[in-house]
Amino acid sequence: MFRRIRHNWRPVKGQPLTELDKKVLYYQNKGCLVPSRHLIKTPEQIEGIRRSGVVNTGVLDLVESKIRAGMSTAEIDKLVYDYTVSHGAIPAPLNYEGFPKSVCTSINEVVCHGIPSDDEILEEGDIINVDVSTILDGYYSDASRMFIIGKTTPEKEKLVRVTKECLQIGMEAARPFGFVGDIGHAIQKHAEKHGFSVVRDLCGHGVGLEFHEDPDVEHFGKKGTGMLLVPGMVFTIEPMINMGTYRVFVDEEDGWTVMTEDELPSAQWEHTFVMTENGLEILTY
Ligand code: MF3
Ligand code: CO
Repeated sequence: MFRRIRHNWRPVKGQPLTELDKKVLYYQNKGCLVPSRHLIKTPEQIEGIRRSGVVNTGVLDLVESKIRAGMSTAEIDKLVYDYTVSHGAIPAPLNYEGFPKSVCTSINEVVCHGIPSDDEILEEGDIINVDVSTILDGYYSDASRMFIIGKTTPEKEKLVRVTKECLQIGMEAARPFGFVGDIGHAIQKHAEKHGFSVVRDLCGHGVGLEFHEDPDVEHFGKKGTGMLLVPGMVFTIEPMINMGTYRVFVDEEDGWTVMTEDELPSAQWEHTFVMTENGLEILTY
């Protein structure tokens, strides 16, 4: 049997191997999945993504200050569009693979990719994920938060809190020259400890020069699996955690809205991160 090694990492032709080359090639030769060189952002690109993240965070702060019972999700969409465009940026979801709005708004049993609508009015006790993605000068950033409308049940409150903890724990599990699977393992352990489940069908992703780049960042799995984490990689962690089954389905009518199969609530928090020599740094604070 041959071990199939994906030779993603190629030294630059005609130049001596750098320390980084040697380190990544060591893992590649062991059979590990390593990033290709273009996934390693330059300091200039990281600064561009950081500036995009500042606008993205401004959008989420604005939504946080305005969101309330009685508001439609279309009003949230308008806030997002107006703020983003007035800051010289573009909402990344708008027209992305046919997505019709500027932001994803996902209420209660909607897991993600909910489409804002005039007919959808926020009610006391709802939990909603607002997922904002911004393009500034060609650089993409991506983050989402949960909002609790008024007072909700202790169970939904716990789901929102534990999901936020999952993001934090996933972030802390990611080490330079560790693996993407370390993140998913830590998240799954925490979610399941609290009796919740981790959505399998959607994942975090590389981001920065495009909306969705390699690697896939799964929120479940085994330590030491998946792609090697190399300083300069930029990606999201965005755990979707369900109160009941992890199984989800896509609404056939709109082709976007992802819902839990058992109609129990789901929560999600997301940040864009850059891997540094010392671990992850948040670019969407
Ligand atoms: N913002 C989502 C993510 O975190 C992607 C949404 S795609 C869209 O990856 F088209 F629905 F906006
Ligand atoms: Co994302």
